[in-house]
Amino acid sequence: MPEVIYLNGKLVSPAEAVISVNDRGFLFGDAVYEVVRSYEGRLWSFERHMRRLARNLAEVDMGGVDVGAIGRAIQEAYAASELPDALIYLQITRGVAPRAHHYTGGMKPTVLITVRDITGSVAEVDPKGMTAITAPDLRWRRCDIKSTNLLPNILAKTKAHQAEAYEAILVHPDGYVTEGSSTSVFWVRDGKVCTMPQGPEILPSISRRIVIEICEEEGLPLVEEHCPLEQFRKADEIFLASTTPEVCPIILLDGAAVADGKAGPITKRLREAFRRRVEAGEDAVPG
Ligand code: PDD
Repeated sequence: MPEVIYLNGKLVSPAEAVISVNDRGFLFGDAVYEVVRSYEGRLWSFERHMRRLARNLAEVDMGGVDVGAIGRAIQEAYAASELPDALIYLQITRGVAPRAHHYTGGMKPTVLITVRDITGSVAEVDPKGMTAITAPDLRWRRCDIKSTNLLPNILAKTKAHQAEAYEAILVHPDGYVTEGSSTSVFWVRDGKVCTMPQGPEILPSISRRIVIEICEEEGLPLVEEHCPLEQFRKADEIFLASTTPEVCPIILLDGAAVADGKAGPITKRLREAFRRRVEAGEDAVPG
């Protein structure tokens, strides 16, 4: 099944999927997005994604968008794909207007949803471990907003690809690790699972949240801290978390082995617990 495309209220063919040259998403990256995946015919953590979308829209002053209708559109596009395991991208731009930096009220947002097969693609990570490089975090000061302004992320990810690494782990100008170019980052030190505190410097990642919930369930101590790069390099274990690779061990950082160069026991335990949640469809928002 080729990619399913939903644009502004209807399913369209690739030839019909046309966006104006004056779309603010294209001109300015004036847009937010979400990435949802499905497992065996079920959208994973859908409610969490829709909540984050609502927050993002409010943060960028696009609060007029009907998130319920967007959710139904995603379901419609997903159903049309007939794909059990799909990757769904939603992009909502502020809409179309003659080019000017400022926007005015009453614009009609452009809504694009694409659904494609995830099997054999980005989701595939080696559970034995992947490699990463470090790169400066050149992003703006609102990384908690999932906006399509991804230039620093894509430059960093490309550096990783050129180095034949899976991910670029970003380092803040003040010297601490923030997150990956498209993943959350965790490290393990003395049996504690550590990650950056949630705030404007990182995305409120849904996988990160689920890993934290699993730590609570499993009785693993969780520390939210700023970790200087020198300390990060000495971690007992490093792993990434994201919608696509789930929990992904990092065994080589900038060409040097992380600890003994093998996926660590806590990472393995969290990866398995995450898998179990996926298999059981356990993704409800707690409380
Ligand atoms: N990336 N941090 C960044 C900068 C991200 O772009 C992502 C997700 C994450 C993990 O978030 P979540 O667990 O909600 O997927 C963390 C997606 C998958 C992407 O842009 O394709």
